[in-house]
Amino acid sequence: AAAEKGGFDFFMEKEIAEQPEALASTLSGHLENGRIVLDEQRLTDQDLRDVDKVFVVACGTAYNAGLLAKYAIEHWVRIPVEVELASEFRYRDPVLDRSTLVVAISQSGETADTLEAVRHAKEQNARVLAICNTNGAQIPRESDAVLYTHAGPEIGVASTKCFLAQIAAAYLVGLALAQARGTKYADEVAREFDAMEQMSAVIADVLTTMDPVRELARDLAKADTVLFIGRHVGYPVALEGALKLKELAYIHAEGFAAGELKHGPIALIEDGLPVIVVMPSREGRAVLHSKMVSNIREIQARGARTIVIAEADDEGAAAVADHLIVIPKTPTLLQPLVTTVPLQIFAATVAATRGYDVDKPRNLAKSVTVE
Ligand code: G6P
Repeated sequence: AAAEKGGFDFFMEKEIAEQPEALASTLSGHLENGRIVLDEQRLTDQDLRDVDKVFVVACGTAYNAGLLAKYAIEHWVRIPVEVELASEFRYRDPVLDRSTLVVAISQSGETADTLEAVRHAKEQNARVLAICNTNGAQIPRESDAVLYTHAGPEIGVASTKCFLAQIAAAYLVGLALAQARGTKYADEVAREFDAMEQMSAVIADVLTTMDPVRELARDLAKADTVLFIGRHVGYPVALEGALKLKELAYIHAEGFAAGELKHGPIALIEDGLPVIVVMPSREGRAVLHSKMVSNIREIQARGARTIVIAEADDEGAAAVADHLIVIPKTPTLLQPLVTTVPLQIFAATVAATRGYDVDKPRNLAKSVTVE
């Protein structure tokens, strides 16, 4: 079993380390002669051109990947994207028709809620594209098209490498839509694709700098509550960081959009409470960056212990961070591919320090096949 884990104590650690490869294999082959190609494409270019609205349906970590897809697809394609928990979708009577693309994201391809959402979408005549990591699973079988994440088998119950692969796959769908609808020139699409491909090497570098995060996690392993805040693409990352910590370490953890602090969560801040901040890029999102610095000051003034994930040379963030986690500068939409990594390692290390089985957290299942 030790050999299967490739020298790591847990599959999850191995899977975190495999993320550069998971990303590269998911993207591989999808740019041909300067054009994005999706696999098992039963949606024609005309179908993609006709799409005027996207719904993403998913559960758990896959849902957080879906939230990120919204930022990219709306930005690139200029059509509305709604992201919905699969368990809520069909009970709400969503407005779907032939020009709606429903993107179902599921690592296992067997999650009952997501499968039922797919069935509902098909009954309403929407077109369904599955993003899935498991060949021939039920969700891709019942969908019109499938884009596989080639992350390799994921054994750890809490999803890690598949999250990054799902983001990449969902962004590929965005680029395919932008290409079909002409909202981006071919060379821009190819450039976005190349930038994504380059992230593999960036993530590999980030993985070599994580010892301070492990140390911090051991130090905070006794915390009762940890809050996570982010803005823009940092917001879904905050949700994912909180989800990982509650799944693995059984610590009360919540993610918030930083702008919402003043509408409630700030009441939770007390002396010594750890708050993990996913800092927006200073160059890419200057306004959000300065708003976030103010948010950090507000919580610090109320006693929070601030742990700030920020890009290299971000002096504004460094000035307000009790602990600074430095990540390389990347294009804004790609930042989640790196900011997620310290949060995964943080959660896994806290859980291991508390003596829990990181691969098999209590009460959870890898694939939930009941509604
Ligand atoms: C379970 C797993 C999560 C996963 C979710 C959705 O809750 O523990 O890690 O994100 O199911 O699974 P899926 O296979 O549909 O991506």
